[in-house]
This record gives sequence, structure tokens and C-alpha cells, in this order.
Amino acid sequence: MSTQTDPAGRARGIFRTKTVEQSIQDTEEPEHALRRSLSALDLTVFGVGVIIGTGIFVLTGKVAKETAGPATALAFVAAGVVCALAALCYAEFASTVPVAGSAYTFAYASLGELPAWIIGWDLVLEFALGTAVVAVGWSGYVRSLMDNIGWHLPQSLSGTDEVHGFAFDLLAFLLVLALTAILVVGMKLSARITALVVVIKVAVVLTVIVAGAFFIKGANYQPFIPKAQPQPGGSGLDAPLVQTLFGYEPTNFGVMGIFTAASVVFFAFIGFDVVATAAEETRVPQRDMPRGILGSLFICTALYVAVSIVVTGMQHYSELSVDAPLADAFKATGHPWYAGFISFGAAVGLITVCMILLLGQTRVFFAMSRDGLLPRFFSRTHPTFSTPYRATVLLGVIIAVIAGFTSIDELATLVNIGTLFAFVVVAIGVVILRRTRPELPRSFRTPLVPWLPALSVATSLWLMLNLPGETWLRFAIWMAAGVVVYFVYGRVHSRLAAPSKPHIDQPRIP
Ligand code: ALA
Repeated sequence: MSTQTDPAGRARGIFRTKTVEQSIQDTEEPEHALRRSLSALDLTVFGVGVIIGTGIFVLTGKVAKETAGPATALAFVAAGVVCALAALCYAEFASTVPVAGSAYTFAYASLGELPAWIIGWDLVLEFALGTAVVAVGWSGYVRSLMDNIGWHLPQSLSGTDEVHGFAFDLLAFLLVLALTAILVVGMKLSARITALVVVIKVAVVLTVIVAGAFFIKGANYQPFIPKAQPQPGGSGLDAPLVQTLFGYEPTNFGVMGIFTAASVVFFAFIGFDVVATAAEETRVPQRDMPRGILGSLFICTALYVAVSIVVTGMQHYSELSVDAPLADAFKATGHPWYAGFISFGAAVGLITVCMILLLGQTRVFFAMSRDGLLPRFFSRTHPTFSTPYRATVLLGVIIAVIAGFTSIDELATLVNIGTLFAFVVVAIGVVILRRTRPELPRSFRTPLVPWLPALSVATSLWLMLNLPGETWLRFAIWMAAGVVVYFVYGRVHSRLAAPSKPHIDQPRIP
């Protein structure tokens, strides 16, 4: 039983911190423990499995066509740099605090309870909406494959875009439910499925790069950075906040367009932080976590830059498709067989993305529940499968419904702003924890502290500022709701608030 607390910390109320030792000790309670079975390779496969998804398969075309042209490759580089800086901070935290919960747990150990709650609440936004976004993207690819063989779903069950009246995305809904069942049965099973799907997905991406390279026309790269032009209908809340703040007329393309594009294609990198959420299920987290996080990020950045260069070289950016740009670029150059293969691989590949985002979500929820900030009922692990099955089922059903009723566009930017905000908190946390707990063993140390974390904060904020004002508004509303929930429930029920409360009080699994 873990009841040790720091009395001074308790006195600090909403800034009370959970000690690192206490976080680790919690994971050793048998009824709240997850199975340690993952290696560095598993984590890298995991990372690549979730990182490559809707971002590269769907958003590349839209961003190239509307915001950055062939310079989309530079947008991927910019977003990749922001993620690499954040990854170096994540890796230190994950190797110092090897327990479930990702940025939430790390913030609890360094910044205090309220900041940790805010991050946990923020991660709910990232993972839950991210899962829904990817499920809807997957459903689009599957419907397009079904159309090829003459099977058509009724329009009212084919997603919410361009449909009047009742609209439900049946396939996205069913996908999330099926993945929920897999996660309840156990980590190892889902890791095996993940590995298989990752192989297919990477094969498809490599096919795009290698085969597509033969169909590049140099003229399509002229101009590489298209001239800035006024954003159609872009004003007020639609415009990137940075342009509104500094009184610019909102524009697309040009150098500013590269950063606007980077703030959108950033979605393509989301996932490396999810690797950190599996720390508690990793055999040697101090060694394997940094390898898993940085390795998967590096591989994906290289693939994205190559894919975007090839695709904008195959087809003029103004003609790229926004629904299935990679497949359609092959159709446009007269190679439908490749297009079919790519659509199939995308449909298969998006399954793992969805599954791992869902997994990250349930693990954060699990950690928050174990700490008493959410009802402890949800943190009981299954007696046979050792998975947090209650949180998994609850969240899986909610996300399935969201996926059924929502469209992709605005959700993706909301996911991005939430994730970038988490990056900011993690980078600040690294610096604080170095000062408050310098003696903790850190198998991976972020280089150049505090300069590198400071740069990570600045670059993450820069991408956030490039998102539309509307996205900021939605994010602010979500976070304000989180603060209310914390003061009404979490602050009172936190285990740090009532450390002497024995676990025996908790409902037991029959
Ligand atoms: N990075 C993931 C994707 O692009 C979330 O789908």
C-alpha cells in the first residue's frame, strides 16, 4: 500500500506533488499493476504504428494544395524539429518516472496536482479525439475500397460529411468498439497485431516513395514555395492566431504558409508521446523508453519528408486530391494498381493508429483514477488480463459514439493544440524536476538543460500560435471545464488529500 506523502506537499494543496518513488510504488500494488512485457523494439514498432496515419495519408494533400505547395516537405521538417525537441524532454521524463500516464504522471511528480490534472484532461482531448479522427479517416478509405468492388453502405451510415439529416459513420463506430475489445483482452495480443499491421503500413509508404520517384516531373516543383496569397474567406476566428494578433491579412502559401502547414501536419507526428504512456508495461524503461521514442520519431520524419517530396513531384500541388492524395497521385499518373494497393494499406494501417491512441487514452485515465482524481473504480485491473478493463470499456464506447457522429477537420487542429500544450508542460517539468530532484537516477538526460527545453517551449508555442483562433477558443472552453471538474471532484478525492484512506475501501473485483 502506498500512503507515503510529503506533508509539506499536502500543505501546498493544488500544487502538492506526488513523489517519484510513490508513483513507482503505486505500480507495484498487485490489484493496480500492469504486466511488464514490452521491449525497446516493441516500443519502436508501437511508435511507428501510431505515428504514421491520417496525417501523412490524408492531411498531406490538403495542406499541399491549400497552404504550402511543394514546401509541405519543409512543413514536415519544421513539425519534426518541434517534435524532436519535445521528444528529448519526454525521454528524460519517461526514463525517470517509469509509470503509466505519460505527461500526466510526469507533471504530477514535478509541477503539482493541478498542473498534472490539467495535463491529464488535455491528454483526454488529444487521445480521445485523435482516436475518433483516425477512425473516421479509416472509414473513408474502407468505403472507397468497398466502392471499388460495388458494395455501398446507405448514405446515412457513411459518415457525416455532406449529409443532411441523420448521419452516422457506422464503420468508424464499429472499428473503435472492436479495438476496445482487443485492448481488454491484453497488451501482448494487441502488440502482435500492431507489429503485423506496421509492416504493411511501412511497406505501403515505401512503395509510394520508391515507385512514385519514377513519376516525378521537375516542373511540378515550380515554384517550390508558392507566393503568399490572401486566404479565401480567412478572417477573424478562421485565421491563424499569430496573423490575427499581429494584424496581418490572413494568407496562404509563402513562408508563413509553411508554418501554418506545419501546425496542421503536426498531427502526423502525434503518437511518439504515446510510447511514453506504456512505460509501466516496459521491461527496462530506463533504457528502452528513450530508444523507443526517439527511434520511432526519427524513422517517421524521414518517411514523411520523402513522401511529401515525391507526391508533390508526381502531381502539381494545385491538383492533388484532399481525400486520398497518395493513392490519387498514382491514379493521376495512370497507375491505378498502385492506387488500390495504397488504399488497402492505408485502411489496414490506420487500424493500429486508432488502437494505440485508444490505449494511450485508457492508460492516462487509469493513472488519474489510481490517484483518486477520477473515481478509483476505474483503476482496478482485470484479474486475468491485467488490463484496466473498466476505463477501457467506458472510454471505448464514448469514443465510438464521437467517431460515429463527427467529421475530421476541426477535430484534428483541436488535437494538435492539446498535444502542443502538453509538450510545453513537459519541457517546463524537465527543468523543474532537475532543480527539485537532482539526485534521481536518469538513464536518459535531455542535453543542454535549460536551453533545449526552453527552445522546445518556444517552438511548440509558435506552432500553437499558427492554429486558428477558433481552435484556441474551443481549447480554452475544454480546459476551463477541466478546472471545474478538478475543483468539484479531484481535489477532494485525491489520494494525496486523504493519504490514510486504505485501499481496502475500494470496490473489489469478485
Ligand atoms: N500521427 C497519427 C496520424 O497521423 C495520429 O494519424
